[in-house]
Amino acid sequence: MKIFIKTYGCQMNERDSEALGAMLCRNGHTLTDVEKDADVLLFNTCSVRDAAERKAKGKIGFMRKLKKQKPEIIIGVLGCMAQRLGDELLAELPHLDFVLGTGQIHRVPEMIENIQKTRCRVSETEFFPDEIEMLGAHGEASWSGQIAITRGCNRFCSYCIVPYVRGREVSRSRESILAEARAMVDAGVREILLLGQNVAAYGLNGDIRPPADDHSPFAELLEELNEIPGLLRIRYTSPYVSYFNKRLISALANCSKVCHNIHLPLQSGSDRILKAMNRQYTAAGYLEKVAELRQAIPDLTFSTDVIVGFPGETEEDFNMTRQLMNEVGFEQAFIFKYSPRPGAKSAEIADTVSEEVKLERNNILLDDLKARISGKLQTLSGSVVEVLVEGVSSRNQERWTGRTGTNFVVHFEPDDDCVPGTLRKVEVSRSGAVSVSGKLLPLD
Ligand code: 5AD
Ligand code: SF4
Repeated sequence: MKIFIKTYGCQMNERDSEALGAMLCRNGHTLTDVEKDADVLLFNTCSVRDAAERKAKGKIGFMRKLKKQKPEIIIGVLGCMAQRLGDELLAELPHLDFVLGTGQIHRVPEMIENIQKTRCRVSETEFFPDEIEMLGAHGEASWSGQIAITRGCNRFCSYCIVPYVRGREVSRSRESILAEARAMVDAGVREILLLGQNVAAYGLNGDIRPPADDHSPFAELLEELNEIPGLLRIRYTSPYVSYFNKRLISALANCSKVCHNIHLPLQSGSDRILKAMNRQYTAAGYLEKVAELRQAIPDLTFSTDVIVGFPGETEEDFNMTRQLMNEVGFEQAFIFKYSPRPGAKSAEIADTVSEEVKLERNNILLDDLKARISGKLQTLSGSVVEVLVEGVSSRNQERWTGRTGTNFVVHFEPDDDCVPGTLRKVEVSRSGAVSVSGKLLPLD
């Protein structure tokens, strides 16, 4: 059968969709990008913010037309929104055939077969944490690959729906991660992105107390991955600031393949709001960790997530966030307007900040960010940077794109030796708003 998969939300969902696509192909199906050609349409959804859910629901609702024209097609909803709404989705959208929660994505092939035979409508949202490794296999060979090393989250930040829709935190075994990484590298992968909602808590058995300074299973995992011949780069997202203990910081500094870029969610720069968010650090603590990391790895760059308009956020709280962001000097940031998520703790308190003020605060931070990024990019002019070649630029077919370990995007004209997944040097000559460009230096 021809299968169409649309993914919403985070990189974890992207990875799951890719692995699901590969699994379906192994079962004899083919993938298509064209909705109206598909026999099965799958929507892998996100619930983390209200906007993400609305977008997916709108799209799935729109599929009603297609189902009218082709009643034999099968439409399934997967992922976090499926987990959150379950039966409700089936009731609300009569053209839906099945809903499968986050712990059941590997059951899609079986589900398709069942529905083909019985044409029943099904919603299943039970968790099977023991089957965490079942969706391990990656998709088509490429220079980059992703491995989910933990799933779920035990931290219960008050605004966040993840612990409810993704379940408790579970880590995959080190052996299975290493085996998957080696198989990926054998298939041509040169950069591996390690994924988890709380990735640096890897191997801590769900204990939310950050470990002693000399203990970090995540550091041990990075060290073993760093030894895989043929692998060039290791990235990871997203860690929680409190897990960067001495053991982890020294591993990051010593592992030559681990990229010098950290996505380190801040959420707020006000201690009062951080406390209300149930984030277990203070603004000063966050800054201290950044300083410690920078001391160990001087060219380290940082990106972050920030929420504006959390209930009770005053102008003063917001200004603390703004100031802290400037102090850290993030090279990238994702700013979100707070939206209450049903089931999350903060949804029980009033959403006090108006949409207008949220938008205003959002725009202030975005303007700060824009100015800061363009300043940082300017400082790269004249320097020689090492990039991992990614391929033809999506904007300009004549040019290719690469990325530095510090996560800056670099454009250049390719030469005959230019191959995706190889490391090359570029002399930066121009900087733009979001990327730089320069001259590719010949291979030594
Ligand atoms: N409202 C707005 N942003 C949210 N995020 C998570 N939950 C919410 C919410 N209820 C943001 C956080 C998180 C990112 C993935 O999404 O910043 O780090
Ligand atoms: Fe959500 Fe907090 Fe867990 Fe991140 S650490 S997934 S924000 S509960």
